[in-house]
Amino acid sequence: MPARLTSFPPDRLATAARRVMARCDELARVTATTGKIERVYLSPEHARVNRLAAEWMREVGMTTRQDAAGNQLGRLEAADAAARALLLGSHLDTVLDAGRFDGIVGVLMALEVVRLLREPVDGGFVSPLPFALEVLAFSDEEGTRFGKALLGSSAVAGSWNDEWWSLEDADGTSLRQAFLEFGLDPARVGEAARRPDELVGYLEAHIEQGPELHRRGESLAVVSSIASARRFQLQVEGEARHAGGTPYDMRRDALLGASEAALAVERICRSEHHIIGTVGQLEAFPGAVNIVPGEARFSLDLRGEFDGERDRVWDAIARDLDEIMGRRGLRWRAREVHNAAAVMCAPLLQDVIREGIVSTLPRGADAPPVIFSRAGHDGMAIGSITDVGMLFLRNPDGISHHPDEAVSAPDVALGIQAFAESVLHLAAEPA
Ligand code: GLV
Ligand code: MN
Ligand code: MN
Repeated sequence: MPARLTSFPPDRLATAARRVMARCDELARVTATTGKIERVYLSPEHARVNRLAAEWMREVGMTTRQDAAGNQLGRLEAADAAARALLLGSHLDTVLDAGRFDGIVGVLMALEVVRLLREPVDGGFVSPLPFALEVLAFSDEEGTRFGKALLGSSAVAGSWNDEWWSLEDADGTSLRQAFLEFGLDPARVGEAARRPDELVGYLEAHIEQGPELHRRGESLAVVSSIASARRFQLQVEGEARHAGGTPYDMRRDALLGASEAALAVERICRSEHHIIGTVGQLEAFPGAVNIVPGEARFSLDLRGEFDGERDRVWDAIARDLDEIMGRRGLRWRAREVHNAAAVMCAPLLQDVIREGIVSTLPRGADAPPVIFSRAGHDGMAIGSITDVGMLFLRNPDGISHHPDEAVSAPDVALGIQAFAESVLHLAAEPA
């Protein structure tokens, strides 16, 4: 059935955006730490936001279920009950001391898209489109609790790895134990996996987590790809000795080696415009004021548009580390804890998102911006089972993973319009 191409009344869009903003505030109050937003995988807060999301899914006519990995799902059937499903989604978990929009706004916007597009039938609702609509609220994108990102979407993609069961949180609780405490059965995690042949694709709206749209003075962008990423935990070994008695020529200070390494990461990445490297954790051991650090541990997060460039930069960093540590009499090693290839957004889904954004612009306006995402998203996992498309919303000042993260209600209204129009454009495509 070719879907109608429509424009939605501005007052409905404004009301929808106000509801999204109010619900972001409501979800921000579901936190493990008063005064901050902290909501991690398999926590009591995770259970509470799933219950709220399920309520809001039912309110727009969806049937709901929590899947075997704790993701919250809502589904609106098409008139043809055998139709495949278009997935709309993002995540409800957060980093530590988070903002209130990262992930959350995408889930809530998806619900407003369903509200705009559904059609009443026999006291209920169906999708008037040639596909069912599903909203997926992923349970773990950030990896805050177990240090492994994309657990929720990896389960949906069927790429769960049994080695993850022994991952532990900061209190020593294993992922397996946390599953059991949450009321999930580890043996059934495979049931969360979706079959590619039951899916049309996956669309996600997300705030941009950088300043590009703000700088360009644009509200919305088409995402071309999601960054390729590698993460490492590095260890430097030197020798712990007396801070007063040890002359400089006898010191093998592991913290100075790690610090010089962090500066080398910055220098190398600055000269490679497409690669961003971050040392976000750095610890010295034994960690006493009067002892030269004998050991240091630090993290490295490397991202780029293309896997090959990212790997070339890691090789250059590793060569520098050999030189720095050799000169300082230190030993170093790295353990890779995350490796995700870049995910290209599907050309058709980029096209429909572009059409969606164009519907929000004055006639004759320039084409919408197309940017690649330096941040990671659930689509990185979902891309292995179906096509992925993403829409970015302007983030004033570009700050994210921070309480000051922001988005404006007018941009959310435009985003909902673009997102809904994108779904309609996709429905109008030949099957
Ligand atoms: C998730 O937000 C990430 O990109 O680290
Ligand atoms: Mn995030
Ligand atoms: Mn996110």
